[in-house]
Amino acid sequence: MPKETPVLAVVLAAGEGTRMKSALPKVLHTVAGLPLVGHAIRSAQEAGCNRLAVVIGPDRPDVAKAVAAIAPEAQVFEQKERRGTAHAVLQAAPAIEAGCRALVVLFGDTPLIRAETIRALADSVAEGGNAVAVLGFEAADPTGYGRLLTEAGELVAIREHKDASEAERQVRLCNGGLMALRGDIALDLLRAVGSNNAQNEFYLPDCVSLARQRGERATVIRVPEQEALGVNDRVQLAACEAVLQKRLRETHMRNGVTMIAPETVYLSLDTEIGRDVVVEPNVVFGPGVTVEEGAVIHAFSHLEGAKVGRGASVGPFARLRPGADLATKAKVGNFVEIKNAVLGEGAKVSHLTYLGDATVGAEANIGAGTITCNYDGYNKFQTEIGAHAFIGSNSALVAPVKIGDGAFVGSGSVVTKDVPANALAVARGHQVVKAEWATHFRARPENVAKAAKKSGA
Ligand code: UD1
Ligand code: MG
Repeated sequence: MPKETPVLAVVLAAGEGTRMKSALPKVLHTVAGLPLVGHAIRSAQEAGCNRLAVVIGPDRPDVAKAVAAIAPEAQVFEQKERRGTAHAVLQAAPAIEAGCRALVVLFGDTPLIRAETIRALADSVAEGGNAVAVLGFEAADPTGYGRLLTEAGELVAIREHKDASEAERQVRLCNGGLMALRGDIALDLLRAVGSNNAQNEFYLPDCVSLARQRGERATVIRVPEQEALGVNDRVQLAACEAVLQKRLRETHMRNGVTMIAPETVYLSLDTEIGRDVVVEPNVVFGPGVTVEEGAVIHAFSHLEGAKVGRGASVGPFARLRPGADLATKAKVGNFVEIKNAVLGEGAKVSHLTYLGDATVGAEANIGAGTITCNYDGYNKFQTEIGAHAFIGSNSALVAPVKIGDGAFVGSGSVVTKDVPANALAVARGHQVVKAEWATHFRARPENVAKAAKKSGA
């Protein structure tokens, strides 16, 4: 089949996931900031699968929505009744009928599969002359897995644990679940699968023996057990998270990122970090974060949906929420929260501040304790702070409001009106000074008596 014919990935995500004990469907639980089903999708895309179908359970608009957000091009099919893995793949028959070089079946709850592995499976049927390629691994404890049965080194069948004889159960080479079928034979094999087995289910693994009956070859692509790890409960969810975090940290460090205590840094699959960035201990990168070259993320900072420009400095103890956009050399210091706000080049927000729905010009200085009052309980409003503006400490900027370029705001001000460029706005009570007031206060007879009692005189 010509090279330009697509490779189709079908992701099975119709499982109920009862062991998660959750109101959320299993495939929507996240690892590394992405739902489980998203990991299968991303690996398939990275492997070069250029068509994508996802099979979901009945009445799962939440899963369909998550899939659409991750891969808008994916075709979504519903499996109304859970009748086995082959039955699930057949729900995507219209996508298979459109033609493909290879059909790769992935599980929505197996997030550690590498793109290289998917590519190896697809290549082995698209170019290697096999009709079926199966993911295999040596299980420390094979109980529950399908066993890969070989004769003279060739894969001849897969036997589900429940259907296996005692002798077959001794086999430790197990089915990782993923499988590639050659495009021209995929539908024929899937449609030939029956349900005459211990679980009355249509088993995808039966494609192996069916292919052999047609004089075709099947093969095994072996991976370490860890890569085939699936998520059935929250203990396995945490185990997958740990494996992924280690992989991601190592990738970033190899790409030139310094992590002082990598085991305390949490990354998302889509985190982008430039060279010579230093990440101090206990930093969390939620989804959608980009950090450019030479920036420093100090300890105990939490970032999500944020962009940190070259040489910028964040934290310690800073929170960057979605839409935080820091230009080159901007500084966000301790106990500062930034949401949907753009900070110009060299702007400084050094301590104890909330900036939401704001723009801050280059080299502006935002004093400690500044708050943008951006929300009236119904609507959000913008604050614009010009370049080189100076906001005195403990000011409240009541949006919508504009502070012009180079303007000053006196500390403790509650600013409700626009401030023109280079002006000074002071919006606070006038200071009253009463000379010797304290001396007279202390000299009141009742205060003198109390002071004497306290000192024991
Ligand atoms: C499957 C394999 C087994 C393999 C194991 C690896 C079959 C019959 N068995 O068993 O050989 O060792 O994976 O983990 O394939 N699904 C649907 N619809 C269905 C049934 C399943 O979408 O009707 C999805 C599930 O959501 C899951 C995947 O297919 O993502 C695998 O199903 P699961 O029930 O976990 O199969 P296992 O019994 O683990
Ligand atoms: Mg399973």
